Amino acid sequence: MVEISNEVKKLFEEKEGPAFIATVDGGGKPNVVSKGSLKVLDDEHLWYIESAGKKTYENLKKNPHVAVALASQEKMGAYQLRGKAELVTEGRLYEQAVKRMEEISSKLGVSLPKPIAAIRIKVDEIYSILPGPMGGERFANMHAHVI
Ligand SMILES: Cc1cc2nc3c(=O)[nH]c(=O)nc-3n(C[C@H](O)[C@H](O)[C@H](O)COP(=O)(O)O)c2cc1C
Repeated sequence: MVEISNEVKKLFEEKEGPAFIATVDGGGKPNVVSKGSLKVLDDEHLWYIESAGKKTYENLKKNPHVAVALASQEKMGAYQLRGKAELVTEGRLYEQAVKRMEEISSKLGVSLPKPIAAIRIKVDEIYSILPGPMGGERFANMHAHVI
């Protein structure tokens, strides 16, 4: 088990801009997009609201492996989290996604469509992607519990 460290959680909260998620299609072709709703769910999982339902979503149906990147020059923090995604289209997490979309809709004064799914990602590796010698080092070994 990999526990998401407090430093990683803090960066998700404090960074400017979205995180990025990479997926792979059936032929091995990579795809990377920004997901502003991508956040920490709990000590072991990330999650985001899928509202597009296009390449990323289709890729996840065939291959659940993902890599997520977040980086902040201002906070001098940068991580890559790898894991496996689960598509959630009903139940508590999906309802949480619906609620969050409704809040965003009323904040923006627009009517956004219902989420296609909530995507829950079980994290199994965390790396630093800072510039310099720390970059590429497996962060989980130094800052999280690996059982
Ligand atoms: C700043 C920003 C934040 C975004 N956040 C989300 C998001 O939270 N959920 C989502 O489904 N799409 C989000 N998108 C849209 C995706 O980046 C992308 O357009 C969508 O997944 C379709 O691309 P794909 O076919 O490669 O998946 C966001 C785009 C931008 C520019």
